[in-house]
Amino acid sequence: MQVAILSARTGWHTDELCRALAARGHVASVLPYEGLRSRFGASTAMTSDGTPLLAADAVLARIIPNGSLEQIIYRVDALHWLEDRGITVMNTPRAIERSVDKFYTTALLQDAGLPTPDTIVCERADEAMAAVRELGDVVIKPIFGSMGHGLVRVSDPEVALRVVRALEQTRAVFYVQRAIAHDGRDLRVFVVGGRVLGAIERTSLDGDWRTNVSRGGAARAFDVPPAWADLAIRAAAVVGADYAGVDLLPSSSGDIHVLEVNGIPGWQGLQRATGLDVAGAIVERLVAMVIGSAKAGPHGGNVESAVGRSIVP
Ligand SMILES: Nc1ncnc2c1ncn2[C@@H]1O[C@H](COP(=O)(O)OP(=O)(O)O)[C@@H](O)[C@H]1O
Ligand SMILES: [Mg+2]
Repeated sequence: MQVAILSARTGWHTDELCRALAARGHVASVLPYEGLRSRFGASTAMTSDGTPLLAADAVLARIIPNGSLEQIIYRVDALHWLEDRGITVMNTPRAIERSVDKFYTTALLQDAGLPTPDTIVCERADEAMAAVRELGDVVIKPIFGSMGHGLVRVSDPEVALRVVRALEQTRAVFYVQRAIAHDGRDLRVFVVGGRVLGAIERTSLDGDWRTNVSRGGAARAFDVPPAWADLAIRAAAVVGADYAGVDLLPSSSGDIHVLEVNGIPGWQGLQRATGLDVAGAIVERLVAMVIGSAKAGPHGGNVESAVGRSIVP
């Protein structure tokens, strides 16, 4: 199988994916989104740095690099178009769109009846302030953020006003969420193909309320109780992610909240703590999807042709 890994850059994650693909007899190319070139007219083609993408069996969509609104929409729409042409794209652009936007993820989790903290999303600064007054102790998050960047916890309305005014200058959308009292730990559950691959418990650095490993949080392997595993699996399914990092926050009083579903998750901390072959699990899921789509048609033909095609013409 020929797999194109679209990514911001090469690094540990793309190395792991290439290793896992090679170990299973597949061929990988790591290609940049910036290199995407689409041609329409006499012939139709999409390449990245000259490598044709329509000949790939699958595209693994890793981190979509920061860019202008036009660049981001072009990159995601390119994934949609590849999918429309019958290429297996993982995670699907639909799942990426849903999980990258905390507003949309929260709305879908809520609709599915999964426990999420009370949250208000708005554009107007006065409505953001009203949300702070209503919810009390809150976390204000960027709706497109990750790794704990840009999260602010406020309870004092005067401090909140400064934060809201500063964010207003950046034309942010306000995502105001009730802060959950917790014991300085949360869980990252890694779901692949509708099953829990593994999980870590993350404990924050120096009592910080953010537990992200990227903020210095310590990680240890965690045996997820079946009810929480079920919650994580349902959360990944709600956004349609074939693999996802689901953040679960157990409160001090014993209940649990789904905080986010990361559709472009990293797994270095998880792998270090658990010893799991995460890339191997992702690749096996991808292969199963390619074979499944080949069987299902209409684009894929038979399994042999799907597996035998080459990325290089
Ligand atoms: N409502 C909340 N109450 C308490 N802690 C929170 C809340 N939301 C987030 N946190 C903490 O901040 C971390 C990052 O939040 P998250 O929503 O996962 O954003 P990011 O996408 O930046 O990881 C969480 O892992 C958790 O430790
Ligand atoms: Mg998170």
